[in-house]
Amino acid sequence: MTISVPQVEIKKGLDEVYVKKTRISWIDGQNGKLYYRGYSIEDLAKHSTFEETAFLLWYGRLPKRDELSKFKSTLVSFRWIPDELVDLMKRVPRKAHPMDILKIGIAAAATYDPELEDMSSIANIRKAMRILAKAPTIIAAWHRIRNNQDPVEPTNDLDHAANFLYMLNGEKPDELSSRIMDVALILHAEHGMNASTFAAMVTASTLSDIYSAVVSGISALKGPLHGGANERALRMIMEVGSPENAESYVLRKLAKKERIMGFGHRVYKAYDPRAKILKEYARMLCEKKGDMRLYETAIKIEEVVLRELSRKRIFTNVDFFSGIVYHHLGIPSDLFTTIFAMARIVGWTGHVLEYWSENRIIRPRALYVGELDKKYLPIDERCTSPEERLEFIGK
Ligand code: CMC
Repeated sequence: MTISVPQVEIKKGLDEVYVKKTRISWIDGQNGKLYYRGYSIEDLAKHSTFEETAFLLWYGRLPKRDELSKFKSTLVSFRWIPDELVDLMKRVPRKAHPMDILKIGIAAAATYDPELEDMSSIANIRKAMRILAKAPTIIAAWHRIRNNQDPVEPTNDLDHAANFLYMLNGEKPDELSSRIMDVALILHAEHGMNASTFAAMVTASTLSDIYSAVVSGISALKGPLHGGANERALRMIMEVGSPENAESYVLRKLAKKERIMGFGHRVYKAYDPRAKILKEYARMLCEKKGDMRLYETAIKIEEVVLRELSRKRIFTNVDFFSGIVYHHLGIPSDLFTTIFAMARIVGWTGHVLEYWSENRIIRPRALYVGELDKKYLPIDERCTSPEERLEFIGK
């Protein structure tokens, strides 16, 4: 027996589906604009700091001087991670992807949080702050452990971004590197109801704890169609190697119907404003290094992709130039997505806190199009056609 399938519309990829109201951010995809709590991303990148932006996104307004100072010192006090977590990282295979380590690290940190089961708003925001503060420590510690180096303890006298570079490289970064890292974190802190934010919110909607929600966010962000694109975009730019190779490389990929990483977006149908800012920093850093090769190759790739795809309204996204920036800050490419994650913790937890104020478990439907009332056959009476043989068993 088959059932009559009801006439419902399936929104593939939940395209244009709204799941909540928000006051946190707005993307004007048609005009390539992004606002956090009403402030343009350009203004925040120019005037704000990551800590101030995190305060803004969580609390809904810019902090006063004393509030920011208290907020920053609280974050600093949460930077440490337990020795047992460092020991745990030492036992993990060295080839593990840093995003998997970040999942392990955040999940493990939850077990040390004295307020894990406290679902009051104040406890939840404190937990969000602990997660935000510890993520860079976990990422940097892992990077050093896998290179047979001792982790560098967080320092109290550097801001969030600079402290990360310090723990990673073992030396205090210069002012320009600190500022560029800080801006990169601002640009990645929040971006509406993207796949990883939705994943975090689905987990939170069951009233699971905020650490679990963040682990869900990290898991979704890892994919190459989302945060994993930045690592692949730089790999592609390096593979292309020089501007002369860009045209044939891009055309070959498009002919094979392959996607070019760092281009296209579900919401932006214009140039991503974050990419514009990172493009300028990529140029500045290449100039500072006295080596324009990566930048010029990227510019040529971009020119060909836009020429070929802008009629489909595909433009450069945040992941295209961020790789060059991170590379010139001395960060290895497999850490790029963890940097995206350590910034986006603000957006994930911000949306979780907002959703919890009017929580309803997220429980959509799948439209059943299979059969019903099939006769159960004993195992020896079952036969399958060769086409039905499962691949893992072999034909
Ligand atoms: N390269 C080549 N073709 C593309 C690309 C691309 N990067 N992106 C989209 N297209 C084509 C796609 O093949 C399709 O063509 P057609 O209509 O002929 O079948 C058309 O554009 C529409 O694509 P779509 O898959 O319906 O678009 P989507 O909204 O579902 O996907 C996306 C958005 C970001 C997954 C996609 O653009 C993509 O795969 N981009 C490359 C990966 C990437 O850079 N991801 C980072 C996104 S920004 C940061 C973040 O949010 O994580």
